Amino acid sequence: MRRRLAAGNWKMNGSRAALSEITSLAALSPQTHCEILICPPATHIVWACEARGDSALRIGGQDCHHAAAGAHTGDLAAEQLADAGASHVIVGHSERRADHGEDDAQVAAKAAAAWRAGLVAIICVGETLAQRQAGKTLAVIARQLAGSLPDGAQAQSTVIAYEPVWAIGTGLTPTLAEISEVHGAMRTQLVARFGAQGDGMRLLYGGSVKPANATEIFALPDVDGALVGGASLKAADFALIVRALEGA
Ligand code: PGA
Repeated sequence: MRRRLAAGNWKMNGSRAALSEITSLAALSPQTHCEILICPPATHIVWACEARGDSALRIGGQDCHHAAAGAHTGDLAAEQLADAGASHVIVGHSERRADHGEDDAQVAAKAAAAWRAGLVAIICVGETLAQRQAGKTLAVIARQLAGSLPDGAQAQSTVIAYEPVWAIGTGLTPTLAEISEVHGAMRTQLVARFGAQGDGMRLLYGGSVKPANATEIFALPDVDGALVGGASLKAADFALIVRALEGA
């Protein structure tokens, strides 16, 4: 049984004042059987951990370097995120792939770094609009999934997020059939490579998830939760998404 996960990615948003949203979600967390995760900017992880108190709300990072330490100005090691109180880290988000030129091999190295530090790696994949329009979606996802997951991936420390690049922050979403097609293909590929571990990995959908569309997306087979950007910035909206996930 895969435990459902509602993950919020604040990206480069939020302030110390916005941590009151964390406090609200911390109050929600004992009332749900779903796992709830918020990934604030790394500067705010320690404060976010203070704000969640002893609740089950999880706090994560948005990226990490592959090395454990060293001369990498401005970067953060997975070990440092863990030290700050993070339990998860997003790797390979399309904004990192686009803004920083990260390729699948680098993403795989970051996932391995996350595991080394005892973190759950949330590994993102997703096609561009041009790739979808060219009919290449499944091939692109298969290639990213193969290249971005190191050998030996374990279900308990690996989450996959399917995030079509064109659906992120745009209000556009794939059809339910399109989401199902990709998630089904990912599950088949993960089981073929990792067996029971691949079956146990949680597959999140991400890209313009909001309270209004969450219920129908969560009803799809092989959708085990969501990675939410914009709608995670307000605890009230995110709480509605968690509620939809609980009911799925
Ligand atoms: P969005 O972002 O929900 O604002 O579309 C999703 C993401 O990038 O994780």
